[in-house]
Amino acid sequence: MFSTLEALPSDAILKLIAEHASDARSEKVDLGVGVYRTEQGETPVLASVKKAERQILETQTSKTYLGSGGDPEFNLLSQQLTFGDDVAAERITTLQTPGGSGGLRVAAGLVLRARRDATVWHSNPTWANHVPLLGGAGLNLKPYPYYDYESRSLVFDQMMDRVNAIPEGDLVLLHGCCHNPTGMDLSQSQWKELAERIAARKLLPFVDMAYQGFANGIKEDVYPIHLLAGMVPEMIVVTSCSKNFGLYRDRVGSLSFVCSNAETAATVRSQAHNLVRTMYSMPPDHGAAIVREILGNPSLRAEWVAEVDGMRARLKNMRVSLVAALRREAPDHDFSHVEQANGMFCFLGISEPQVERLKKDCGVYMVNSSRINVAGITPGNVDYLAKSIALVL
Ligand code: LMR
Repeated sequence: MFSTLEALPSDAILKLIAEHASDARSEKVDLGVGVYRTEQGETPVLASVKKAERQILETQTSKTYLGSGGDPEFNLLSQQLTFGDDVAAERITTLQTPGGSGGLRVAAGLVLRARRDATVWHSNPTWANHVPLLGGAGLNLKPYPYYDYESRSLVFDQMMDRVNAIPEGDLVLLHGCCHNPTGMDLSQSQWKELAERIAARKLLPFVDMAYQGFANGIKEDVYPIHLLAGMVPEMIVVTSCSKNFGLYRDRVGSLSFVCSNAETAATVRSQAHNLVRTMYSMPPDHGAAIVREILGNPSLRAEWVAEVDGMRARLKNMRVSLVAALRREAPDHDFSHVEQANGMFCFLGISEPQVERLKKDCGVYMVNSSRINVAGITPGNVDYLAKSIALVL
């Protein structure tokens, strides 16, 4: 049976992890996969997470099943983190999911059950796994314009023109903040304009929030979600705890359906639980228990918020440092767009052969599109990085 299968190429982002790991050069730089790194280039377990884990170890009395929706307390706290008190809780149903990806996959299954012929409109470009994941689940996908590579900026007017032509009932996939891969987010006034258009055209917002806290702050970054939730009857929101809690491999996320009333929310919940039961039965608990401990304990929560603030500040500092170093090393080239982006990513704006040369000649790793993870930049490597980039320009 298995001889009928053809080998597939490795995932473009994940393969960079192995390539960088097997590079023996001491000056190598990893700007590939989206994980946070300290000034020492490490991805440590957050202090708040360590404390929560200790508490769980001491107080957990059972590891019995929790059910397809996961831990109800995690779900409530996660829902509040995303929606605050702005939306009546009975209109929302939230499930704990295996990372943001698990949430996207369950959301896709539910959309297919509700309206098989709906199309999900995604930004061009978008996270490299959005189309494979959602398309692989069976959804129709189409792009809307988002970014112009030449001017290295958003194309909001073109985006709005396309949104204006999307048929009623289709879904619009939006990055809650820290757009991946461009790092370019809409301004508040652009979000307002977009939300009005989405509401007027009776479209369903489908928000992927993977970087809450990395743009402007934990509370500030959910602005578009609050705005949309106040304007549309139905909406889907997926969150990830991979980056802001540093729980990458523990697989923690949430999926919320905002419904027009409590009765519909209960029906959607029953469908979503059924979908989960038929896919992976139940989500893993450990990471979600950590998040529950942190969000439910005021002092741990404050410690976590401060840790996220620290990560955000470091990312912003590294953008500034890289642009300054590039101004010195490549004065004829303008990289100021790097400073304008939010979160971990942006495009450097160099060609694929230049990306390849950086890897081969300098041990600098990034995605072929020239997407860089600025968390891989440190005070110790920023000059080498800028010199390497200047070399291939
Ligand atoms: C990324 O875009 O690098 C991250 O979201 C990790 C991943 O799974 O692709």
